Amino acid sequence: MEKLWYKFNIDTTNAVRDDLDMSFVAGPDPESHWVWGCHGDNMKNILNEEWIEYCKSKEFEIIYLMLFYKPANFNDNIHTDDRPTFIPGEYFLDFGLNFVINPGYMSGNGTDIKYKDWQDTGTFEWYKREPEKEIYREGEFAGYRYSHLHIPKTDDLTLLDSLNFDKDAYIIHAGKPHQVFTKDQPRLSVSLRTRAISNVSTWEQTIEHFRQHNLIFDR
Ligand SMILES: [Fe+2]
Repeated sequence: MEKLWYKFNIDTTNAVRDDLDMSFVAGPDPESHWVWGCHGDNMKNILNEEWIEYCKSKEFEIIYLMLFYKPANFNDNIHTDDRPTFIPGEYFLDFGLNFVINPGYMSGNGTDIKYKDWQDTGTFEWYKREPEKEIYREGEFAGYRYSHLHIPKTDDLTLLDSLNFDKDAYIIHAGKPHQVFTKDQPRLSVSLRTRAISNVSTWEQTIEHFRQHNLIFDR
């Protein structure tokens, strides 16, 4: 198997604001998945400012963030992320720093009684690239423009790697076909993106760069 994720040496405790309420995107209990993103000062509406500074002190400066919601039993969203181009002067690589948060944040503060003992039961999977099957798509949601390659789900896809999240943050390869499929629980996750690093152009170089900053737990 390829290694398309690594546990990252950043503590996610107190990352998300206690008063976060994402119901403005599509209500507190959406039937379909959504993606929402922001950058600049707007990130302080999602993350605690001290935590943004903490990441910066660990050599991971957050340039923009995305939130992903998936309802229970969702399993048809294989795609590759596009490199975002909407922030002038910034250039990005194909990776994200991801962690899951309680779907209680869909209705204001993650302690919503409905999700008191919630545990993520989703799985992140990567598949071998098959260019002849890829379909280019563009979209816009909640003011966030994005494009990606969609890959129809078929039985003959080759699994490259998979990841079950816990409470920690994981750096993930976003440029190879991937999806998160959920089981009995809905899921809300955060993906943080930082700018490209000089002299770094590949996934392997990215991991080596962060390894030298003591941010990678090897597997
Ligand atoms: Fe993605």
